Amino acid sequence: MATSGFLIKGFSNRKPLEGLLRVTGAKNAVLKAQAASVLFKDKILLRNVPFIKDVGKMNELLEDLGVVVEQKGKRSFSFNAPKVLKTDLNSSAAKLFRSSVVLSGPILAREGKVRFPHPGGCVIGQRPIDVFLDAFQKMGAELKIQGPFYELKAKKLKGTEIFFKAQSVTATETVMMTAVLVNGITVLHNCACEPEIACLAKFLNSAGANIIGAGTHTIIVRGGNVLMSGVFNTPPDRIEAGTFAVIAALCGKNLKIANCDPSQMGAVLRALSEVGASVEKGKNCLLIKGPRALRPTDVKTNAYPGFSTDLQAPFSVVLTQAKGRSLLFETIFEGRLNYLSDLKRMGANIVACDPHRAIITGPTRLTGRETKSPDLRAGLAFLIAGMVADGDSLVNNAYNIDRGYEKIEERLNAVGANIKRIINNE
Ligand code: EPZ
Repeated sequence: MATSGFLIKGFSNRKPLEGLLRVTGAKNAVLKAQAASVLFKDKILLRNVPFIKDVGKMNELLEDLGVVVEQKGKRSFSFNAPKVLKTDLNSSAAKLFRSSVVLSGPILAREGKVRFPHPGGCVIGQRPIDVFLDAFQKMGAELKIQGPFYELKAKKLKGTEIFFKAQSVTATETVMMTAVLVNGITVLHNCACEPEIACLAKFLNSAGANIIGAGTHTIIVRGGNVLMSGVFNTPPDRIEAGTFAVIAALCGKNLKIANCDPSQMGAVLRALSEVGASVEKGKNCLLIKGPRALRPTDVKTNAYPGFSTDLQAPFSVVLTQAKGRSLLFETIFEGRLNYLSDLKRMGANIVACDPHRAIITGPTRLTGRETKSPDLRAGLAFLIAGMVADGDSLVNNAYNIDRGYEKIEERLNAVGANIKRIINNE
């Protein structure tokens, strides 16, 4: 099977980046809106949809369930769920990305049963789904686990009060969506507060749902309303925008980032200012200039609005180039620092303290190497490292990067990078 990678010319081969990078629609928002289509009686329309692999995979899953997906415009797609949904998730597709699990609750609420595999996605830790399963059982479902498959049945789910064991983004979104179809009041405590959750709730409320508190730690859903149809405008991808801001600070001379929402990027913009980058904010754009010499800073990931765990890997490249010692502390996922060993192979001075903490001392010159992207964000970190390294780098498994970044090499080359997509026929 042919796989693809990215061949990156290092810093010495080109001048600093300049020009305009446009941010696309948010992966972690659009995937949930796609899944929400099964809650509706009629067609819904999604706008500003990014062309990323996970969106394609979600469409595949939905079509397999009987949802009709049609392209209505360059970045607009309609979704029309059937009267009766298939209740088995196609496991080969569902195992490729985490968001497949978001379909479980809505299907259970609609059809009274659902069968799905343990979701796949970025290998950044164990990533259990106990918070989801606990919530469905508290709502009255019966659970059967058969190997890697979960089977849930419920004659009638009921509204109830749930205190989540962990602040989980997808669990909050999934149970919130499930509660919309369930008669009665559901109160959810210890919810995640990522902006994509409030965005999803706003969309569902615009179609007749009754959700209050989304974006805070307590969400109340008055369920049982029928959702007819709605339009979802995918918000800008704050993680892609943060990734571009990191690239601008490292390799940019005059790089503008457009179609973003700086108000959702407080933590990463503050960290970039701390390392000496100049950050100019517009209403929906940013102008980031890197300093001559980067200063070190400590980065501790946190739930929103803290420093996003999804920007930890891209930001670590900044720390390898900063003059001094920085502490990198990944608090959300126990397996999200594994990629650092590849940065060390490129010449970075990194001491891993434990699965959650590492000390990065810079600046060190990085040398181009061959790496393989283990997940979406570490893959981007390797691409960025290749852009600042001496000599050429090869990042294999481009699929993992294409999962969440649309045509990344074309957009970065348009501002002066030198990245070539290569196909390896294995
Ligand atoms: C979402 O993943 C995002 N993915 C992730 O982005 C993001 O890193 C993560 O939230 C944290 O912000 C999507 O929205 C598709 P969690 P999710 O459940 O929901 C534990 C990217 O790169 N937990 O918020 O899977 C879990 O182990 C991806 O775009 C349980 O213990 O993350 C973790 O320690 C990567 N039991 C913590 O909660 C559960 O049932 C937060 O994870 C669920 C989660």
